[in-house]
Amino acid sequence: KRPFIIDCDTGTDDAIAILAALGSDAIRVRALTSVNGNVNENFTSRNNRDLVGYLGADVEVARGAKIPFYPRAGYYDATHGSEGLGDVTLPAAENVPFTKETAPELIRRIAEEEEGRLELLVVGPMTNIAIALSMYPELKEKIRHIWFMGGAALGGNMTPTAEFNIWVDPVAAKLVIASGIPMTMVGLDVTLKAALNREDEQEIRSFGNKGAVLAADILDYMIRRYADGGEDALMHDALAAAAAVCPQCLVCHDYFVDVECQGEYTAGHTMVDRRGRTGKKPNVSVAMELDLPVFKQWLKDCLKQCG
Ligand code: BDR
Ligand code: CA
Repeated sequence: KRPFIIDCDTGTDDAIAILAALGSDAIRVRALTSVNGNVNENFTSRNNRDLVGYLGADVEVARGAKIPFYPRAGYYDATHGSEGLGDVTLPAAENVPFTKETAPELIRRIAEEEEGRLELLVVGPMTNIAIALSMYPELKEKIRHIWFMGGAALGGNMTPTAEFNIWVDPVAAKLVIASGIPMTMVGLDVTLKAALNREDEQEIRSFGNKGAVLAADILDYMIRRYADGGEDALMHDALAAAAAVCPQCLVCHDYFVDVECQGEYTAGHTMVDRRGRTGKKPNVSVAMELDLPVFKQWLKDCLKQCG
């Protein structure tokens, strides 16, 4: 199995990505590292710890950045409920300790242990990864690949041009994307099409195992919220996990990508140079098309094997 750390701001769809990764035959989740994003870092850390405790998973949990590099204030919205998992409450896993190491320290230690094999699945703002790379520049050589959910070649969901994860901390994203680490961007170009519906939720629930039923409870919240005028049950973050181990569900192209940090309207925009106008060498493999049935099947197969 390939060793992964999942860096996340858990979050409804983050939780489903974690459950899928834990059920995947191809992934060994070594750790969850939490970051501020969908909700504050106290909640994202608690959600990660409680997920690990609930599933009895052998996964380390580290706490991470509480504020972004970029001066954003008061940006939490109601998408994931006030504590991150909608109306789903997990038992408090007080027996699961947070590591003494912070997220950047843990990433460094596991990268050393894995000797070049470690991959990162980054599904929240990139603050922890940017801190890790600025504290330990040698990490660049030790991370095999970064799979991230964030950005968009076209359009945004926070502003007309910026996707949420990049919008929260464009400075961190700029630093990480410029690092030279091989990476794949799974942005809104594909994730806005990765929607699960009520039938999917019922099928997943019928598997009956702990991870699948929990995923179904979270999906139920997302679908109800959609009916109330919110966003569809979009599997943004699980699609980034799929990119890593089910490449046939996406079509990707290599492009030069950079992040806009300054613009009055465009701060947080991922500039994807689809026509090679900058003359700069491609640095990111960007997912541009999705095969939805293949993705859904992959997700269901993973959830069936989780917990
Ligand atoms: C991203 O923002 C969060 O709401 C989701 O968890 C996902 O990572 C989508 O823009
Ligand atoms: Ca997320």
